[in-house]
Amino acid sequence: MNSIVIPDYINSILPYQGGRPIKEVARELNIPEGNIVKLASNENPLGISPKAKKAIEDNISDISRYPDGNAYYLKEAIHKKFNILTSQIILGNGSNDILELVARTFLAPNDEAIFSEHAFAVYSLVIQSVGAKGIEVPSSNYSHDLEKFLTAINKKTKVIYIANPNNPTGTLIEKSKLKFFLNNVPKHIVVVLDEAYDEYLHDDAKSEGFNWISQYENLLISRSFSKAYGLAGLRLGYGVSSPFIIEVMNRIRQPFNVNALVQTAAIASLDDDEFISRSRVVNDLGMNQITSALTSLRIEFIRSYGNFVAFKLKDEQAAIMYYQHLLKNGVIVRPIANYKMPSFLRVSIGLEHENDRFINILRSCNPIGF
Ligand SMILES: Cc1ncc(COP(=O)(O)O)c(C=O)c1O
Repeated sequence: MNSIVIPDYINSILPYQGGRPIKEVARELNIPEGNIVKLASNENPLGISPKAKKAIEDNISDISRYPDGNAYYLKEAIHKKFNILTSQIILGNGSNDILELVARTFLAPNDEAIFSEHAFAVYSLVIQSVGAKGIEVPSSNYSHDLEKFLTAINKKTKVIYIANPNNPTGTLIEKSKLKFFLNNVPKHIVVVLDEAYDEYLHDDAKSEGFNWISQYENLLISRSFSKAYGLAGLRLGYGVSSPFIIEVMNRIRQPFNVNALVQTAAIASLDDDEFISRSRVVNDLGMNQITSALTSLRIEFIRSYGNFVAFKLKDEQAAIMYYQHLLKNGVIVRPIANYKMPSFLRVSIGLEHENDRFINILRSCNPIGF
């Protein structure tokens, strides 16, 4: 018997379940990798910007050196692109790193942090990992109910996580509701606005969060290079907040948390608006292709503002059956029972032929009944 004592709050953590990797499914089901379509992790089906690819190739020999721990040039590039002071930027090994750094910086055991029902799973994990208590607020129609958030605040509340758009539901919060919320949250509570999918939003829906940073010193916006920028495998995210919040978080950040290749790839990506526009167009077309097919199959889905959509089958049993059927036929989607949505599956938007594959296999399940 192991005599190592693990704190209860660590012992009770259920680890994050990611989308199944192509190699793993190929190995287990004996399907050639080339025949597998992965629509399970909200990655960019176009890959990465050609400019980023070139930057990686040109800088590959640098990896024998430690990266610039302060990522001077990348912060400069973000500063130029979004007009944010470099003292207001913190970089992370994926935006997950930023979400975790917030928990490690601002939460102590027995503090409370609030998030929504059906919100991105990492919030509850990082809260629990520091011994704090996660308060899950019931959603309204699968979306964040910020009025209920306000009523959940008490003396122990130190952090609030909001995903906008949210994953896995794809829901978006109206700007006026967000503003009202920010105006009414006590200023000592750190509010994290997770905008991992912002690049997919159209101009009228796009976040104004960066403009709000100067008004709300307790606001932190987190962004990701894993989605529209296509750099999920290299890991990069960033947080934007008041210089005070950034300075405290930087005290506990691992010194080399952002690798050398992603620094150079991200600088090149920020200089490639055409790639992001093209990614948005491909996503819009694919979203239309998939949701039209769902409609014609009379499958309910939640309107999504991201690069994925959650759709509802008859019940949990049906969702498992459809998931297995898709998998057996080489299409990986994501079950979301762990988000308290057992009768749903989530599919990421792919290229036209990938979406077609998904739709055709879904259609072939039809006799089983939705
Ligand atoms: C809402 C949301 N936030 C953050 C992340 C974390 O992404 P990454 O750590 O790759 O930047 C994800 C990934 O799926 C997400 O869906």
